[in-house]
Parts: sequence; C-alpha cells; structure tokens
Amino acid sequence: MKAVEVAGDSVPLKIGSREIPAPKLGQVLIEVCAAGVNRADILQRNGKYPPPIGASDILGLEVSGIIIETGENVSAFKEGDKVMALLEGGGYASHVIANEACILPMPVNTDYVQAASLPEALFTAWSNLFTYADMQRGETLLFHGGTSGIGVIALQMANRFGIKSIATAGSRKKCDFLEILGVENAINYKEQDFVEIVKGLGGADVVIDMVGGDYWSKNLKVLKEEGRLISMAMMGGAKAEVNFVPLLINNLCVKGTTLRNKPLAFKKKIRDELIEYIMPMIESGDIRPVIDTVFELNDVQKAHNLMETSEHIGKIVLKID
Ligand SMILES: NC(=O)c1ccc[n+]([C@@H]2O[C@H](COP(=O)([O-])OP(=O)(O)OC[C@H]3O[C@@H](n4cnc5c(N)ncnc54)[C@H](OP(=O)(O)O)[C@@H]3O)[C@@H](O)[C@H]2O)c1
Repeated sequence: MKAVEVAGDSVPLKIGSREIPAPKLGQVLIEVCAAGVNRADILQRNGKYPPPIGASDILGLEVSGIIIETGENVSAFKEGDKVMALLEGGGYASHVIANEACILPMPVNTDYVQAASLPEALFTAWSNLFTYADMQRGETLLFHGGTSGIGVIALQMANRFGIKSIATAGSRKKCDFLEILGVENAINYKEQDFVEIVKGLGGADVVIDMVGGDYWSKNLKVLKEEGRLISMAMMGGAKAEVNFVPLLINNLCVKGTTLRNKPLAFKKKIRDELIEYIMPMIESGDIRPVIDTVFELNDVQKAHNLMETSEHIGKIVLKID
C-alpha cells in the first residue's frame, strides 16, 4: 500500500510503500479515500508525540473510506460500507486498520473529503464540552483557537446546544469567519485583551484552552464561580508562573485532557453519543464540516507547511486515490 513516511531531512514527508495490514478481532480494513490533517501529526513528525504502543507508526488520526475487509467479531459494519474513522495512527496511507468502536457511518450529505475532516474534531469537541466540562444550556464558553480544526466543530456544537460562545483567533479575517459560524463574541487576541473583554461580558463558565503558557493565569481570571478550565493542548508552552488565587476564591476546577491514548471503551461511548446527538445535526446541515484546503497525498508536505503557518481556517485534508 501507499503510505507517507517521515524521512527526517529538510523535506521530511515522502510517499513510500508498506504491506497492507490485516484486521484483527473487532477491527476493519478501510480503503482510504481522504485523511484529515491534525496539528498532532506535526508534533509526531517532529518526534514529539510518539504513537501509543501497538498503534501504526504512520501519521494520520482520521480517515474516510470504504470497508474492504472485516476481522472477527465485527457486527455493526460490513464490507462495502462507507465510513469515517478515528484512528490511533496510520491514516496517511491508501489502507488503514480501524477499530469498530471508533467508526461512524459516513453522513449522507457529505463527500469523502468532508467526512475525513470530522472524526478527530467530533470526538474531541464532544468529550471536552460535555464529558469533561459538563457544559449546560445557557452557560458561556470561552474557546481559544476558535478557527482550529477542533474549534470550528466545537463552536458549532456549543451553539446548537444553547451555549453562548466567545472565541479567540489571530486575525480579523478569522474573527469575521467565527461570527458567521455563530460565535457571539470573536476576539482578535493580537489586537484585543481577551481578559478585559470576557470579564466585561460577565465571565465564562468554561474555558477550553489549547495555548497554555501565559494563558493559565488569564484563563483563571475570566472564569465565573464554579467555572471549569479544560486544558487540551499547550501550544504556547507547558511551563508558566500562575496566580492560583482565583482557583480558591471562585471554586474553580482545572482538568487536562487527551483523546488518542484513551481506552476503546471510552471512545466507543463518545462514538455512540455522537451517533445519537450529533450525526443527525450533520445530516441536516446544522453542523457543517469546514474545509480550508485539500491536497493530493503527493503534496502532503505542502499540507503540513500550510498548517505550520496557522493561516488556515478549519481543516486541511489529504485526498487519497
Ligand atoms: N486533548 C485532546 O484530546 C486533543 C485532541 C485533538 C487535538 N488536540 C490539540 O488541539 C490543538 C488544535 O488542534 P488542530 O488540529 O485543530 O490545530 P489547528 O487546526 O492547526 O489549529 C491550531 C490553531 O491554534 C492557534 N494557536 C494559538 N496559539 C498557538 C501557538 N502558540 N502555536 C500554534 N498555533 C497556535 C492558531 O490559530 P491563531 O493564529 O488564530 O492563533 C492555530 O491555527 C492542537 O494543539 C492539538 O494537539 C488535543
């Protein structure tokens, strides 16, 4: 099969060839039509985010495609089914193994490119908003990295569940897009002080943060009483000097989250909740995939280069023939 290999020189990503893997118990083999690109792929390419033990060492956390073989004990899917899948790795390839517990049927009104853009964002957004932060209708969310691949789905979900959203992004163009997406207050953090604005709006019940660094103290400052800070990444740095006083005064809760290394049972529960609550919204067009750029697999390096500029809005996707 065709697969992207990390070569490690000035053009780190190249197309290579591997054996097609065989599905084991509870797994399926997917002929891949498209693969989503995630920021984590860049960390893995740079040796900073190794795949979990037993997972493919090939990059790629999500795909869409057609099931061409099923392993033992697969009951909900069969050969020929069009699906999208969350992976522990292996998506940048013409074929990939997926666990049945992490597969969703392809929504009727999406194409393969759109479907490939969804699994990582759907699982991450749902688990962070509702499993970890326990967000309730009428509460206020502050989401940093609003136009990230994860953000564009999380903010639509929040909106559909009656949550008021505030989001930060790094340009006016990105903020304009967020307002079209339904975000009530989009803050260009390069020109505006988000602490002042969020406090002026009455504060946030939940902050979902992917920046870390000097955002730790600022996030604690904007939370209301009983507020929750969810740290899902630390792109701005893992170390900081933090003023924790608001944690005590406002009875705050801080939680860190990851998805990739969670047990299959956790992912299956999220998958089942997505099928029940979110798939109908995707099929009705109430939640839409947001695609910035599509690249052919041969141009995978260009896809990573674009992600590293952070100029994209929504997802970057690889088309795989
Ligand atoms: N915990 C979990 O379960 C989980 C699951 C999936 C992803 N993640 C993490 O969530 C983050 C978003 O992933 P993604 O694939 O959606 O990323 P993405 O599409 O590349 O978006 C990331 C955005 O974050 C903003 N940003 C803010 N500070 C940044 C910094 N210091 N360096 C780079 N970008 C910065 C940038 O937009 P602006 O220019 O607007 O600032 C950038 O476009 C990643 O860190 C990823 O590892 C966590």
